[in-house]
Amino acid sequence: MRKLHQLFAPATNPAGKSRHTAIFAAMENLQQQIAAYQDEINAFHTADAEALEAFRIKFLGTKGIVKGLMTEMKNIAPDERKAFGQTMNSFKQLAEEKYEQLKSSATAGTLQPAGEDYTLPGEAITVGTRHPLTLVRQQITEIFKRIGFAVAEGPEIEDDWHNFGALNLPEDHPARDMQDTFYISTNPAIMLRTHTSNVQIRAMEKGKLPIRLIMPGRVYRNETISARAHCFFHQVEGLYVAERVSFADLKQTLYFFVKEMFGQDVKIRFRPSYFPFTEPSAEMDISCLICGGKGCNVCKYTGWVEILGCGMVHPNVLSNCGIDPEKYTGFAFGMGIERIAMLKYQVKDLRLFSENDIRFLRQFTGAV
Ligand code: DAH
Repeated sequence: MRKLHQLFAPATNPAGKSRHTAIFAAMENLQQQIAAYQDEINAFHTADAEALEAFRIKFLGTKGIVKGLMTEMKNIAPDERKAFGQTMNSFKQLAEEKYEQLKSSATAGTLQPAGEDYTLPGEAITVGTRHPLTLVRQQITEIFKRIGFAVAEGPEIEDDWHNFGALNLPEDHPARDMQDTFYISTNPAIMLRTHTSNVQIRAMEKGKLPIRLIMPGRVYRNETISARAHCFFHQVEGLYVAERVSFADLKQTLYFFVKEMFGQDVKIRFRPSYFPFTEPSAEMDISCLICGGKGCNVCKYTGWVEILGCGMVHPNVLSNCGIDPEKYTGFAFGMGIERIAMLKYQVKDLRLFSENDIRFLRQFTGAV
């Protein structure tokens, strides 16, 4: 705010003008100022005690505008002082009334800032939803936790030993071609993990037995993106290593999982398969959730869909991790979370999971 002496400087410093002209100019100038202050007071609204106190200090305080303007009386021509006095009185009254009115509304609790209408409905806050892959991952881990599995995670940027070597895939092993790998260009010994099986190795290397772990995470493969493949996706790995773990334990564990995940009526079958890190190895199919086994385009008219790979941990893998394969045995399995989610929610295109289209994501609210 400009000080009054600044406002009136031209009028009180005639610089060649007659005293009468200066006084006339002072009166006119003051009246304009008062009119502007009146507008300000009339427009003033506040719900806030601090702003109200600032108003009081500005207009009615000992160094406030009303007091300040009063001291200008001496610059007013004597025959105009009465008129000026009346203007000042009504101006002061206006400021006081405004102050009292706002103060009593504040006490009554009805004070509102100008332009606000508290009866209008508030702006809705959109609540986010869990990602369908998160929901499925949580459900998978919850089921395994109930039968004594703990959750572990491992690095997504991995060295050759943990992603391949220790898993019984030495260099030049043709099975390395089963997974198209993203290598770090400056150091091909480092890569983005192609599966969560690296976490098995890291867990076994720690040497604490028995191990009963469920290991979810993101994996990467150099694949062309399509409705059925992506360059990154998610897996859940399982591992149980102890004395006398058998293939029957593996089967019962997976039976329990499938019934909990998909319902009691779902049928299960194991087919012999090959993975370098398990012996024997198998792939597990469940009866098609879409057609109930009758045959449809999801199960390619076979009635079955594959959901995971599994087997007994290869003795070489155990010894690579410093575990005696004569004393201990173990089973392992790995499944794709996207695949489970696609079956569970009948999603036909894998890309939907990573495109972040909110219309797609919203459909999974409270799904689990
Ligand atoms: N790592 C395999 C893959 O990504 C999946 C897998 C198969 C994991 C068998 C296992 C297993 O632990 O025993 O295709």
